[in-house]
Amino acid sequence: MIIGIIGSGAMGTGIAQVAAQAGHEVFIYDTNDAALTLSQHKLEATFLKLVEKGKFTADLAAEILTRIKFEDNLRAFSNCGLVIEAIVERLDAKRSVFGTLEEIVTSDCILATNTSSLSIAAISAKLKNPERMLGIHFFNPAPLMPLVEIIPSLQTAPEVTLTAEALIKSWNKVTVLAKDTPGFIVNRVARPFYSEAIKLYEEGLADIATIDWAMREIGGFRMGPFELTDLIGHDVNYVVTETVWTQFYYDPRFKPSITQKRLLESGLLGRKTKRGFYDYREGSSKAAPNTDQKLGQEIVDRVLALLINEAIDAVFMQIGTAKDIDLAMTKGVNYPKGLLQWANEIGLETVLNRLTELHSFYGDDRYRPNPLLRRMVAENQSFQLS
Ligand SMILES: NC(=O)c1ccc[n+]([C@@H]2O[C@H](COP(=O)([O-])OP(=O)(O)OC[C@H]3O[C@@H](n4cnc5c(N)ncnc54)[C@H](O)[C@@H]3O)[C@@H](O)[C@H]2O)c1
Repeated sequence: MIIGIIGSGAMGTGIAQVAAQAGHEVFIYDTNDAALTLSQHKLEATFLKLVEKGKFTADLAAEILTRIKFEDNLRAFSNCGLVIEAIVERLDAKRSVFGTLEEIVTSDCILATNTSSLSIAAISAKLKNPERMLGIHFFNPAPLMPLVEIIPSLQTAPEVTLTAEALIKSWNKVTVLAKDTPGFIVNRVARPFYSEAIKLYEEGLADIATIDWAMREIGGFRMGPFELTDLIGHDVNYVVTETVWTQFYYDPRFKPSITQKRLLESGLLGRKTKRGFYDYREGSSKAAPNTDQKLGQEIVDRVLALLINEAIDAVFMQIGTAKDIDLAMTKGVNYPKGLLQWANEIGLETVLNRLTELHSFYGDDRYRPNPLLRRMVAENQSFQLS
């Protein structure tokens, strides 16, 4: 099958690499010539590195690269079996590109969007055949992150979902099925990792170095929330939080932080601007964390209780199965274990007690325990994850 990729930025380039490595001929298109050239140079450099590391022979790397064709005309996509769009995150731009594409591809071509925050329903609504469209959401960097969320819209034909799922699995990816709701699974469930950590800092419970230390060394996360948001960029991370919050009709559970907004407004976007929560300019030094175990455990317990509550809500609202929700967080954002498995291990009653205490202390609906958690505790249940 020939694969078409629209948009040759960070995601499009990565997805093209994954598809070509899986043996497909790939067409990649961008309206910006410089972006296409950059994508080609990036892929050449990537394969050079992979050869140096011994992952591919030089011959195989050259063969994979020749499978990728860089196109400045969408007409080249006429024989594609699947087209994945990864252009700028704007509804009008995405609708327009699919409108053009629909006139070019054959009727059995599957159309997919890699959107992180727009609804699949809205992107596909204007298509002549919305039943052939769905979300196929890769994580950054696409060649390295195993997870792909598959998101059918209300109008997607079941066989389109099944075909897309099987194809992406054959690319050596782990797929999870997610409902077409804000943030899908990962970008919804992960919100408290950032926002509750920032709230702890705003309240003065601990400084950023201490919270990062606690989440890493006691929580087992690969990076702390402040170093991670500095790496992602506050322009990207804040906007995802704000989008999820507004799309959930301003539910306080997802409320963004003014501290992070100020960073964004100041242009202190993180590593890429050399300042964010931390200072990366030459000569600057990082404050040492307070390594008090009791404080560290308190930080982890609080953030984890909110993350688990969010994972439980995703089960309760049938966004995905319990198994898929755990898979999504371990394979999409490298959590040390699935949140529902973690809840089983901590004990659902302990999680409920932590949330109830926070809810009663703050009087803020952000901490309200999920009804499913209450019910499971009342019925002495735990999550079945196998
Ligand atoms: N970056 C991430 O971490 C990430 C992760 C998952 C999903 N996504 C989603 O993937 C999509 C792309 O993100 P990205 O980070 O690769 O963006 P990017 O800015 O790196 O690349 C976007 C590319 O699309 C091109 N483009 C813009 N309008 C176009 C059009 N009408 N036709 C063809 N090309 C066009 C631009 O020239 C640019 O090269 C977005 O929908 C984003 O939400 C991003």
